[in-house]
Amino acid sequence: MPVLETLMSRKSHNKLVAPAPSKTQVEQMMKFALRAPDHASLKPWRYQVFTGQSLIQLGEFFAKASQWEDSELSFDELDKLKSRPLRAPMVIIASVFITEHPKVPEIEQYLSAGASVQNLLLAAHFMNIGAIWRTDSLCFNRHLMDLLGLKENESIVGFIYLGKEEGKKRLPKHVEQSEFVAWK
Ligand SMILES: Cc1cc2nc3c(=O)[nH]c(=O)nc-3n(C[C@H](O)[C@H](O)[C@H](O)COP(=O)(O)O)c2cc1C
Repeated sequence: MPVLETLMSRKSHNKLVAPAPSKTQVEQMMKFALRAPDHASLKPWRYQVFTGQSLIQLGEFFAKASQWEDSELSFDELDKLKSRPLRAPMVIIASVFITEHPKVPEIEQYLSAGASVQNLLLAAHFMNIGAIWRTDSLCFNRHLMDLLGLKENESIVGFIYLGKEEGKKRLPKHVEQSEFVAWK
């Protein structure tokens, strides 16, 4: 398939099963992720890769961090949080590490982190690896960031679930450009 067509056919998939991407595949995806546009070469992107046993540890972190935020959570809700990372054989946590810079405001560093995640998603798609970018309130939970060892000036920007796609593959819908693109 020509490269542009392949790029256009990227579609997030939420039913992801084993096998997890291999170490070599993750390294390949990271090569792309670390090639995002980046004002002043601040390299604001950080990634943590969870697979196998570490997904169980991540589930424990999800539950603990949520409980610190809301001590009323039921056993059932905590169990659901524990099993959340097990929805895929690999979860990559993407974060942004903010550096104070006279010419590069925080927002630009967030944008660069977003571009980096998109590069990761496109690389996964090229390698026929299913993926979805998720957030939810845990993304903004400071207790979780502490458990993950994030620095004070570092924040989570997404949980990237990866694996083999199960079920019907959806295709992207056609988008009418005139609604979004103005030629001047
Ligand atoms: C920053 C960000 C956070 C997202 N968080 C979630 C999420 O928590 N749950 C979810 O189902 N989709 C989430 N999405 C949307 C999916 O990643 C995906 O973009 C959407 O399902 C559309 O599919 P597509 O990427 O194939 O067009 C998020 C997207 C972005 C950019």
